[in-house]
Amino acid sequence: MGRLKDKVAIVIGGSKGIGLASAQLFASEGAKVVITGRDLEVLNQAKDLIQGNVMAVQGDISCLGHLEELYEKTYKEYGYVDILFSNAGIVHPAWLKDVTEEIFDELISVNYKGTFFAVQKGIPYFNKGASIILNASIAGLFGIDKDSVYSTTKAAVIQMAKNFAADLVALNIRVNSISPGFIKTPLTDKWLEAQPEKYHAFRKKIPLGQRVASADEIAKVVLFLASGDSSYVTGQNLVVDGGLSTLFIENT
Ligand SMILES: NC(=O)c1ccc[n+]([C@@H]2O[C@H](COP(=O)([O-])OP(=O)(O)OC[C@H]3O[C@@H](n4cnc5c(N)ncnc54)[C@H](OP(=O)(O)O)[C@@H]3O)[C@@H](O)[C@H]2O)c1
Repeated sequence: MGRLKDKVAIVIGGSKGIGLASAQLFASEGAKVVITGRDLEVLNQAKDLIQGNVMAVQGDISCLGHLEELYEKTYKEYGYVDILFSNAGIVHPAWLKDVTEEIFDELISVNYKGTFFAVQKGIPYFNKGASIILNASIAGLFGIDKDSVYSTTKAAVIQMAKNFAADLVALNIRVNSISPGFIKTPLTDKWLEAQPEKYHAFRKKIPLGQRVASADEIAKVVLFLASGDSSYVTGQNLVVDGGLSTLFIENT
């Protein structure tokens, strides 16, 4: 308790899944939290679920005007920003030949452009000592079938965290990314429901307990990067995947 006492934290895409779990944890650690999302009803439901000091600002991460409005409203309500968790992201699996210009543009706009400008637009508002966390994915580390656009946007996010860390180090702002493996959220629930057999086969490949993670397990890692506990960590990509990307276990 109190690890983020009086800190101002923005969670972009804070109405569901990993973002909501992180916003809840931030608030329970004493932060003043601002959550965003596109769906106002879901956003307001999330606001009610978060106990503590919380403000909801509707907006789309791919819209630069919405990002400017988000920072202005946050500044007006709480002052300068200590923590940004840029978490919003979307998936759209498609085999290479089936990727349309529309799918390509949508994924690039949200996952790549959105994440980029979420940080850039915040620069005038970040406190010295601020911590920025970008949500990437282990998809950004692998060559995955039917995933070429999503994976490349996430590879870009991993790289972006390093470049931003280099640019912002002079302002004493830390920037890191996280790369979750398979996490149970509304996003993956859709996939689970549609392809239960594929999901169970995949789950068995996860070395740590052959299980997917909960959003809370990712939120705890985000809290580590957001708090002073990681004061000497910047430009890193923290992989949280139960060993999936690094361990080879025979007979699985
Ligand atoms: N779940 C996993 O297994 C997993 C693994 C690796 C990486 N990730 C990454 O983790 C992040 C969160 O995933 P999740 O599973 O928690 O997803 P989720 O349950 O679908 O939640 C996504 C959140 O982002 C918001 N969002 C989506 N598009 C947005 C946009 N254009 N502008 C603003 N907000 C937007 C959603 O609200 P609205 O829809 O109302 O806008 C929601 O609050 C994503 O970047 C995802 O790529 C997830």
